[in-house]
Amino acid sequence: MHDLKDLGAWLQSNEPAHEMLTPSTLPDPCFTLDGREHVSFSTNNYLALANSPRLIARARQALEHYGVGNCESRLLGGNLALYETLEARLAAVKGKESALIFATGYLTNLGVLTALVRTGQLARAFGYRTRTRWTHEYFSDEFNHVSIREGIRVSGATSLSYRHRDMNDLERKLKASNASIRIIATDGVFSQHGDIVPLPEMLELAERHDAFIYIDDAHGTGVLGPTGCGTTEYFGVSSPRIIHMGTLSKAYGCIGGFVATDEHITRILRLGCPAFGFTSTLPPDQAAAVIEAIDIVREEPERRMRLWENQRHFVDRMPAASFDLTATETPIVPLVIGDEGECARLAAGLRAVGIHVDAIMFPAVPVGQSRLRFIMNAHHTVEHIDRVVETLQGLVSFA
Ligand SMILES: Cc1ncc(COP(=O)(O)O)c(C=O)c1O
Repeated sequence: MHDLKDLGAWLQSNEPAHEMLTPSTLPDPCFTLDGREHVSFSTNNYLALANSPRLIARARQALEHYGVGNCESRLLGGNLALYETLEARLAAVKGKESALIFATGYLTNLGVLTALVRTGQLARAFGYRTRTRWTHEYFSDEFNHVSIREGIRVSGATSLSYRHRDMNDLERKLKASNASIRIIATDGVFSQHGDIVPLPEMLELAERHDAFIYIDDAHGTGVLGPTGCGTTEYFGVSSPRIIHMGTLSKAYGCIGGFVATDEHITRILRLGCPAFGFTSTLPPDQAAAVIEAIDIVREEPERRMRLWENQRHFVDRMPAASFDLTATETPIVPLVIGDEGECARLAAGLRAVGIHVDAIMFPAVPVGQSRLRFIMNAHHTVEHIDRVVETLQGLVSFA
């Protein structure tokens, strides 16, 4: 009891590094904080859909029809045709036979990564007899999102971490594996690094070593690819070996997560994944709003075009202002600072002039690799971008 109080007091006195903002409006990307207008370079609301009038109208209709929550597991009476429509739409986005939705993206990774390695147990529980004794092994990029790492840890399966995007290291580890089911888990777009998984090379390895790929496309879905379907569309690859995971809380502007895969895997998860069957799902108004978001992503490509124009303007301006960028392929563009104190100082300096950029530090990245993580948005203006670059230049030269 006492130890916890001490820890609480210590955290309070060290809070500035992990301070939580309390704005009075949400970023589109402009928002109000302490009565002042700010612009966010840290929102996942990439296409500014979270407050789109179309999404609001669609959600309002569903709210009035269904109420605010379903209060029931889908297996036990909480199912709606609306959820099934959304799953069919998500499956189509990913070019898969079917999909399953979950209350959040984090829960999706936790639940699915745990369930995928318990299929043998499930089969036996349902009376399915097989002579094969399945063994499972995960192969995980060292910089995968925390929810993937936690899902693998909670699954209890053996797992190996390979060096970030290093296909030689991955191959060495696949070669040495005796597991009967091998699953490579990876971010599509790495959330703290902004780079993209080398998916075609990874798929080649998966084929050579008979492995599945579980791709968390939280930051690719709605953003990458000619029609915004994500990382697989960006590379033009598809394969029955790929299990797609995504969130509804970023480009789609809502809440929830999903997997899209072949029907037989969906069927196993529907019964064998407690994070699907033993909890409630997203409220109906959110499901309706996501369906609208999927339509908008297809019907309004100009939103994605503006996002990419802004991204290009930023990645052109930063080196011209003598800032070295480590990744420039996606709307997530980190500026690695290294020292935690300096990173916090720069973030605070930007905030003082109404610009919000997240200072990403341990445990999201290793100690000494802190960074300002810029996330570009379809509704940024050239003036917003020029202002953040010039302010940053001023802050660095003032150090
Ligand atoms: C790569 C990745 N996966 C999963 C998640 C979790 O998604 P959600 O916020 O929808 O729970 C995030 C969120 O930050 C993410 O960046």
